[in-house]
Amino acid sequence: MKTTLSVIKADVGSIGGHIQPSKRLLEAVRKHVATEGRGLVTDSYISYTGDDIAILMTHSRGKGNEKIHQLAWDAFVAGTRVAKEQGLYGAGQDLLKDSFSGNVKGLGPAVAELDFDERPNEPFLFFAADKTDPGAYNLPLYLAFTDPMYNSGLILSPAMSQGFRFVIMDVSCTEGDRVVELNAPEDMYDIAALLRDNQRFVVEAIYSRTSGEVVVSVSTTRLHNIAGKYTGKDDPVMLVRVQGAFPATGEVLAPFNIGHYVAGFMRGSHTGPLMPVRSNSGISYFDGPPVVSCQAFCVSKGILTEPADAFDHPYWDFVRTKVSQKATDIRAQGFSGVSMLHYGELEYGGIVEKMKKLENMFKVRA
Ligand code: F6R
Ligand code: MG
Ligand code: MG
Repeated sequence: MKTTLSVIKADVGSIGGHIQPSKRLLEAVRKHVATEGRGLVTDSYISYTGDDIAILMTHSRGKGNEKIHQLAWDAFVAGTRVAKEQGLYGAGQDLLKDSFSGNVKGLGPAVAELDFDERPNEPFLFFAADKTDPGAYNLPLYLAFTDPMYNSGLILSPAMSQGFRFVIMDVSCTEGDRVVELNAPEDMYDIAALLRDNQRFVVEAIYSRTSGEVVVSVSTTRLHNIAGKYTGKDDPVMLVRVQGAFPATGEVLAPFNIGHYVAGFMRGSHTGPLMPVRSNSGISYFDGPPVVSCQAFCVSKGILTEPADAFDHPYWDFVRTKVSQKATDIRAQGFSGVSMLHYGELEYGGIVEKMKKLENMFKVRA
């Protein structure tokens, strides 16, 4: 049976700053999807990570389906109404265009979709990150899909021995989707050469080379490419099919114990370690740290199980403590050097004006 998983997420308002949505806002989104989605989606699940609400839907209409995207858009519009009523901060923030036009891509919300023939009791993972950008998934995906130090299945499972095909997007290109396809293991150094630059090159999808099946889909939206100015970090979502011929759940989760430094944090303009958190967690220290949640599901004939919260385990408490230390350490140097992003990635335009003024004050000494 063909199943499509579509996850569409947006920040449409938050309590007390950019930290988490209200219960009423979540309920409005949930209610809209439950009532208007009848006969359209097979199943759905609504959750939040930081200030972002994610609508996960199963259906059989394929990727980029107008009706599915419209449903999510309208749910966020309904949510925005409640956010405005309640006086939530940043109400409707990620709905960058006034009206829906065919597909939410380019309108503000982030989208990741997978379309596949269901395996029996198909397991998959849904990741959502806040206060960071899509490049945050580059390193964990590289390690989980190419490195036997993280993915023992690359050695132990014949179904994975041919490796994986990476589709990598140049997100600096605003004319269209500029992509390259590279194969692991033979192109590993080329893949690494691209993926080291998290702000420019982003994994969009990964395919099994054994079966040709799609395994991973990442949202690649860059909000500032759409709005032309700062409107929040991109806060990416990702879907990963797991087990059997694909990495095991634990192999995909393993690299998240690094708490690697990513772009985002306060004002989308800093460097901070990516902390794995429980789903439905808010944001705190220095509008961060950047966080990622992971819900594990099985889907059978389009029906979802309840989620298992993959980062809700004592092991990840240990990781969170370690990552907190990394966050404290880099914050100790404030604005200096690598702790703040380089000029082109700073999300607030004010610095441009400041630099212009300062430029004019410089004099070359005779
Ligand atoms: C980062 C983020 C926050 C805000 C910060 C200032 O993605 O959402 O760190 O940038 O709280 O917010 P404003 O400019 O709305 O006062
Ligand atoms: Mg957010
Ligand atoms: Mg936000």
